[in-house]
Amino acid sequence: MKPGLFLTRILPMPVMHRLKILFDLKYNLHDRPLTIPELMRGMRGRPALISMLSDPINAEVIGSNPRLRVIANYAVGYNNIDLETAAGRGIVVTNTPGVLTEATADLAWTLVLCLARRVLEGDRLVRKGRWTGWNPTQLLGIDLSGKILGIIGMGRIGKAVAKRARGFGMRVVYCNRRRLPPSVEKAFHASRIPVYGLLSVADIVSLHVPLTRETHHLIDRRALNRMKPTAFLINTSRGPVVDEKALTTAIRQRRIAGAGLDVFEEEPAVHKGLLSLPNVVLLPHLGSATVETRTRMGYIVVENIKAVLEGKRAPNAVHV
Ligand code: DGY
Repeated sequence: MKPGLFLTRILPMPVMHRLKILFDLKYNLHDRPLTIPELMRGMRGRPALISMLSDPINAEVIGSNPRLRVIANYAVGYNNIDLETAAGRGIVVTNTPGVLTEATADLAWTLVLCLARRVLEGDRLVRKGRWTGWNPTQLLGIDLSGKILGIIGMGRIGKAVAKRARGFGMRVVYCNRRRLPPSVEKAFHASRIPVYGLLSVADIVSLHVPLTRETHHLIDRRALNRMKPTAFLINTSRGPVVDEKALTTAIRQRRIAGAGLDVFEEEPAVHKGLLSLPNVVLLPHLGSATVETRTRMGYIVVENIKAVLEGKRAPNAVHV
């Protein structure tokens, strides 16, 4: 008999195919997040759950299924899961690290380039029929070459973002709990500085930290005040790392030059003030959204569930 699995959203076709072969699969047929009661009903009695970053897997949800053995989150971040409760019940929680590094780094750079060269402002101008022809002073952006990229959180994704900076002729400064080995710093042409130092020298500040109690509102009014008025903030990590209200005010008051956001404090809601700012680029959490990456994420999820249900060590177990 195949083990029971509940999946909270439809995944790319090849992944669905594999899941159907390996498991007694039940899944959310609607193209929307489930409510908590729907989620609890769906997973009832099943030993395995595949959750999305938008599913709050809290103590109530976990406690509703005494047969649950593994929660495989379809994301690298797992701040949506109550790890303590899961650990207390002996449930293994897994994530999908590694496979989405390049896609997320590409997206961070997409935001950088959109802001530096005012791409969306130009696109809007053309579409609205307001372009009257080439103009020597129209929509001037900034050169990236020779500028400083500040990376907060130099894990896998932070490093992939740093690697791309070389191609643009940028210098990299980073802050991270631990210093990288000198050989790695050399390879990325990166030097470690404290966070407030980074905020005050960087022309682009890019966030790559997980959401934890320590990183919640890491970028608040005080942090924004440290940034240069010409600097841009990029967030492809988790929305609550940035205080959106403080960010809106800082941009309105021209204390920073703009922001590129792929994540928001209360997804899918976006702070209303951000919507009317032309120098802000807003994306609907697309960090890992490529065919290849989302498919690989699915295969990793499968491997993790299989391992746990076969009594083996899950390759991507995460801990409290
Ligand atoms: C993740 O996997 O945590 C990313 O935010 C997805 O884009």
